[in-house]
Amino acid sequence: MANLNGHVAVVTGGAGGIGEAICMALAQAGCTVVVGYNSSRDGAEALVKRLAPNPVPHVALRAPVTDSAAMASLAREVQQRFGSCDVLVNCAGTTRFVPHDDLDALDDALIDQILATNVRGPFAAVRALRALLQAPRAPGKTALVVNISSIAAVTAMGSNVMYCASKAAVDNMTKSLARALAPSVRVLSVSPGLADTEFVKSMDPLWRDEQAARTPLRRLAMPEEVAAAVVAAATHLTFTTGTVIPVDGGRPLA
Ligand SMILES: NC(=O)c1ccc[n+]([C@@H]2O[C@H](COP(=O)([O-])OP(=O)(O)OC[C@H]3O[C@@H](n4cnc5c(N)ncnc54)[C@H](OP(=O)(O)O)[C@@H]3O)[C@@H](O)[C@H]2O)c1
Repeated sequence: MANLNGHVAVVTGGAGGIGEAICMALAQAGCTVVVGYNSSRDGAEALVKRLAPNPVPHVALRAPVTDSAAMASLAREVQQRFGSCDVLVNCAGTTRFVPHDDLDALDDALIDQILATNVRGPFAAVRALRALLQAPRAPGKTALVVNISSIAAVTAMGSNVMYCASKAAVDNMTKSLARALAPSVRVLSVSPGLADTEFVKSMDPLWRDEQAARTPLRRLAMPEEVAAAVVAAATHLTFTTGTVIPVDGGRPLA
């Protein structure tokens, strides 16, 4: 089993439902993890204490993806502490439920927030950390960027019209960035179906059951399964770049 001992991973949205599982799995695989947070500083610091210990300690750092100056500060901090970044997981994301036919409720402020966070945000993180991702490595070794997308990108079914469009943009950007940053950095999307985070668990159980019933594998994704795909991308999919890895139980087939 390949491991990630000695690797440094930055996870934006690291204290969120899926982000936490990704941080746990990367630490378990041997990474030193930078748990990036926006508003959840306490949650990020508490998570750092629960991660599998590493000889180079994990840390919680501010990573507000819509603030490019702050992302540049994050990159400087990562450079000073660790000297490189081997894995960047763009997990930060935002949305709100708006029925697709209620165009007026999807106002400009919400559209701008979704696009700035979900599309500009991952690009800004890559731009800020590019030099660290492209630091010299042993021959044949690459750094990895994983953009957490959504099957909403292909099904156009999701919390609102602009959320779906934002994730389609992420998958498209994954391809451009994979080409632009090759051969030193691989770029992938990991694309979950509805995942059973605490937030989703808090929703109407009838609605959750309906979503599971519409999924060929008859259940929702576990955050740990999304995290396992991220780790596999780092440890096993070493000749894969510029593509989308679905973790959706076959939902688009239904
Ligand atoms: N849950 C699902 O069913 C599902 C399915 C497919 C895809 N996804 C995607 O998976 C990712 C994580 O979702 P989740 O379910 O774990 O959501 P979540 O629990 O609400 O977490 C969202 C995370 O994004 C961070 N964030 C929001 N705005 C930010 C900003 N401006 N700068 C930096 N961080 C920001 C939050 O950080 P703070 O708390 O620190 O503010 C939080 O950690 C998202 O990209 C989402 O679109 C989720």
